[in-house]
Amino acid sequence: MLTFKEEIAGILSSLTAMSPAEVYSLLEIPPEAGMGEYAFPCFALARLQKKPPHIIAAELADRIKPGSFSGEAQNKGPYLNFYINRPYLFEKLLPEITGAGDGYGKEEENNHTIVIDYSAPNIAKPFGVGHLRSTVIGSALYRLYRALGYRVVGINHIGDWGTQFGKLIVAFRRWGDSSELEKDPVHYLYQLYVQFHQEAEKDPDLDEEARYWFRQLELGDEDAVGMWEHFRGLSLIEFQRLYRLMGIEFDSYQGESFYNDMLDETVELVREKGLLKESEGALLADLEPHGLPPCLLRKKDGAALYMTRDLAAAIYRYKKYRFSKLLYVVGAEQTLHFKQFFKLLELLGFSWAGDCVHVPFGLIHFKDGRMSTREGKVVFLEDVIDKAVDMAQNIIREKNPDLANKEEAAKMVGLGAIIFGDLVNDRIKDVEFDWDKVLDFSGETAPYIQYAHARICSILRKAKGGSVTADLGEGRIAGGLVGELARAEGLLEAPEEEQLLITLARFKEQMRRAAEEYRPSFLARYLLDLARDFNKFYHNCPVLTAAGGLKEARLLLIDGVRVVLHNGLDLLGIEAPEEM
Ligand code: ARG
Repeated sequence: MLTFKEEIAGILSSLTAMSPAEVYSLLEIPPEAGMGEYAFPCFALARLQKKPPHIIAAELADRIKPGSFSGEAQNKGPYLNFYINRPYLFEKLLPEITGAGDGYGKEEENNHTIVIDYSAPNIAKPFGVGHLRSTVIGSALYRLYRALGYRVVGINHIGDWGTQFGKLIVAFRRWGDSSELEKDPVHYLYQLYVQFHQEAEKDPDLDEEARYWFRQLELGDEDAVGMWEHFRGLSLIEFQRLYRLMGIEFDSYQGESFYNDMLDETVELVREKGLLKESEGALLADLEPHGLPPCLLRKKDGAALYMTRDLAAAIYRYKKYRFSKLLYVVGAEQTLHFKQFFKLLELLGFSWAGDCVHVPFGLIHFKDGRMSTREGKVVFLEDVIDKAVDMAQNIIREKNPDLANKEEAAKMVGLGAIIFGDLVNDRIKDVEFDWDKVLDFSGETAPYIQYAHARICSILRKAKGGSVTADLGEGRIAGGLVGELARAEGLLEAPEEEQLLITLARFKEQMRRAAEEYRPSFLARYLLDLARDFNKFYHNCPVLTAAGGLKEARLLLIDGVRVVLHNGLDLLGIEAPEEM
């Protein structure tokens, strides 16, 4: 079913020389209530048709007939304001939402592939909060695109190769302890790495030794490779445990090392295109004519670089997946890297270079004093999770001491708070992570939304004698009947009810917008609006004590809200408890 916005785009496109996509991109949400749900500015058409915009708006208003979603269109100055057809919302939209349930928002499969490169922690370096941002933003985009019908491939480009392994091998041979390693590989390897740096300050020979071992690794020496595999394997198990805990999925863990035997060809390709330069024994790609600094592809000792691997990986990924888009969810501090990288792909003549997108994000700081870290400045993801779940548990114990499944709920609320606390911010901005704020049940938080959801579940349970989704199978039919009734009796016409219906109608387009602009924050903010509209409604419109038809209609309305809150949170990777 088309969304309201798509319907308008179609109607206007049939009356003008603009494509539906052009109209779609111009439609605005009017700044004030009473001006309709969408406004179309007629300036672009005015230029095209060489007529004043207010004339165009008036002419179009005369020619537009109501569609299924859209009621009337009115011209106001250079704008054309579209009003949503109110009865349609409860007769068609609500039954559609409640009938589809968990499937509401999912679209038919299309044959486009989106590859998303996200998370990508480095072995022996902590899985820090920068990686946390990449993980939650990437995962939300993954879920959004999948729901929109794309084939999505999630890749974790693990940092599993590089000079740090030479250092780790030296450190482990000197000071390592196998049982410590097995116990807590991620922290332990990081500790060894830190120790190596401390010792190397006193004893510079260590660096030479580390270079030696990394060379051995590159040459395929059995001992070196054995240790590398061991470190890598243990770290991966640990990462995967955290991903499982957070409900994060990947389709591939092909990390940097996977491309080892494709690097020669990659550098050769750059040479063939005449882009390679030699400088003091090192090989680099000259990007100067394009206003970018040169990028190193091989050091003089023969070692390849991050860039060399990224080039090889992109070429490999295109061959394998024929993607429509390849997204890199990586911090803004790597912007230059991605500029150089995409420019190189273009110069190498790949037609798909323009389909590679860097999705950058800002830094995250933890508000001081509250986050204890084991190693100075670094924050470990697992500590963040533990702390959030602990805090959530305390709050829940206080608010709802009788809750049966406190631990389960605390996990959903704690994890939800971390994920949402990140996603609600425009990703490009730096974030200050404040524990009190992300767990505030009345703030702009996941718990606020989860709480609205749980409250609806509780009302529905009371109304339906136990189960929240008791009649979901027949929801469509029941909903249709209630919808007709609502029209006949003029129900759901209070301003709070209308607002809630209109907000519900915006869900799918916010989903699409979040995916298209790679900004899950649009969906996060939308869910806050919906939860807020629900709370206003609930404050003024009793449900369980309302009379007959009105009670049925309101139950249907809040069931629709429940479904959209649940599905919307799910798209962000957040669970919604039925009780909390
Ligand atoms: N491991 C890298 C880092 O921590 C991020 C890798 C991102 N993906 C990529 N294909 N470059 O900085």
